Amino acid sequence: MLDLKAFQKITYGVYLVSSRCGDILSGCVVNTLTQVTTSPAQVTIAINKQNYTTEIIRKSGRFTAVVLSQSAMMELIGRFGFHCSRDTEKFESFRTRVDESGVPFVCEQASARFSCKVVSSMDAGTHIIFLGEVEAAEVLDSTGPMSYAYYHQIKNGITPPRASVYQPEPAKGYRCRICGYVLDSDTVPDDFVCPICGRGKEHLEKITG
Ligand SMILES: Cc1cc2nc3c(=O)[nH]c(=O)nc-3n(C[C@H](O)[C@H](O)[C@H](O)COP(=O)(O)O)c2cc1C
Repeated sequence: MLDLKAFQKITYGVYLVSSRCGDILSGCVVNTLTQVTTSPAQVTIAINKQNYTTEIIRKSGRFTAVVLSQSAMMELIGRFGFHCSRDTEKFESFRTRVDESGVPFVCEQASARFSCKVVSSMDAGTHIIFLGEVEAAEVLDSTGPMSYAYYHQIKNGITPPRASVYQPEPAKGYRCRICGYVLDSDTVPDDFVCPICGRGKEHLEKITG
């Protein structure tokens, strides 16, 4: 027996992971950051091989992870979690800083950041697990971190196929390109407004299967 519902009992947070190689910046959402040890301070992330951010982390050997606050907007999660850095400038609309090693990170709507040097990696099939040694850590604001359950239950968020914990959704209707909201309908009214991010009909794409 392999009951997929059992996996939904595992708890996570929601994080932005960014990396830089020369002039190329990349970043994506992950829920799979975990602290492994305190001394040395180490964390792991599990990240899909097809994510552009994975390529940039592999090349640069660095990533910076930001813990999203509970107040983080769906527009931020939508930009980093449903678009590819290969063809989308993700950082320009948000307040950013550059860490001690030159990696940019979003410093708004975020509770803490961890700047990491990759010390090891493991092939996990579709994903790679990077073990990062934390070289700098900082509290950014005092609001509580967003849990993965809060993202789903309160923010009505969904998880795209490349995420480690993805479980298939019904393949019909329309998906908001900004925040991932799924409209379970064959038609879209002209005055449609996304209930999650407030964008209009022009931002919907048909789910093809
Ligand atoms: C809530 C949420 C959790 C996610 N968790 C992961 C994850 O743990 N690992 C992963 O590889 N992708 C995860 N993703 C998907 C990536 O963020 C997504 O594929 C992104 O578009 C990749 O961007 P990139 O190609 O610029 O790296 C998650 C997305 C969301 C919205």
